[in-house]
Amino acid sequence: METKAPAKKTAAKTPASKTSTKSTSKTPAKKGAAKELKDLFEDSLKDIYWAEKALVKALPTMMKNATDEKLKTAIENHLAETQTHVERLEECFKALGKKAQAKKCDAMQGLLDEGKSIIEETEPGTVRDAGIIAAAQKVEHYEIATYGTLAAFAKVLNEQDCLKYLLETLNEEKKCDELLTKVADTNLNSKAK
Ligand SMILES: [Fe+2]
Ligand SMILES: [Fe+2]
Repeated sequence: METKAPAKKTAAKTPASKTSTKSTSKTPAKKGAAKELKDLFEDSLKDIYWAEKALVKALPTMMKNATDEKLKTAIENHLAETQTHVERLEECFKALGKKAQAKKCDAMQGLLDEGKSIIEETEPGTVRDAGIIAAAQKVEHYEIATYGTLAAFAKVLNEQDCLKYLLETLNEEKKCDELLTKVADTNLNSKAK
């Protein structure tokens, strides 16, 4: 006769008071916090401006560490595009009548730190290439999310010049992500062989 495996003892429940996420007070806004959507839009532009400039510095290291020729070329081409992304953001600031200003983007800093660790923790070759692609795609996905949001804000705010620049960049980020997926497929297939 088949015997059923005994059911595990149910883990002790954490008291409700400890798991409760209910909060009675709102987080107080910092001094100078955005009041209008336009303020949030401008703050977000400063954030991605910092991120794109950081990428211009970080992409050459990724390129040097890649071994696959297609991957190297993809990163090299996207480095040139990234320089254009910086310039388009400067045009956005100009269209808003603002000085181009960068504000540290903690999310991009985290992604770039992770990319650096992946390189250090992998042997050069197919495995490191796979790691570089993974790190680069996380960056692209972050950019796609950011530019998608910024374009939506520009549309609502009727900032047509900004909208045009933001959509151009968004399109290039998406294409780069698709290309990296193709390179990853080839890279992993060659490893499998
Ligand atoms: Fe970009
Ligand atoms: Fe990008």
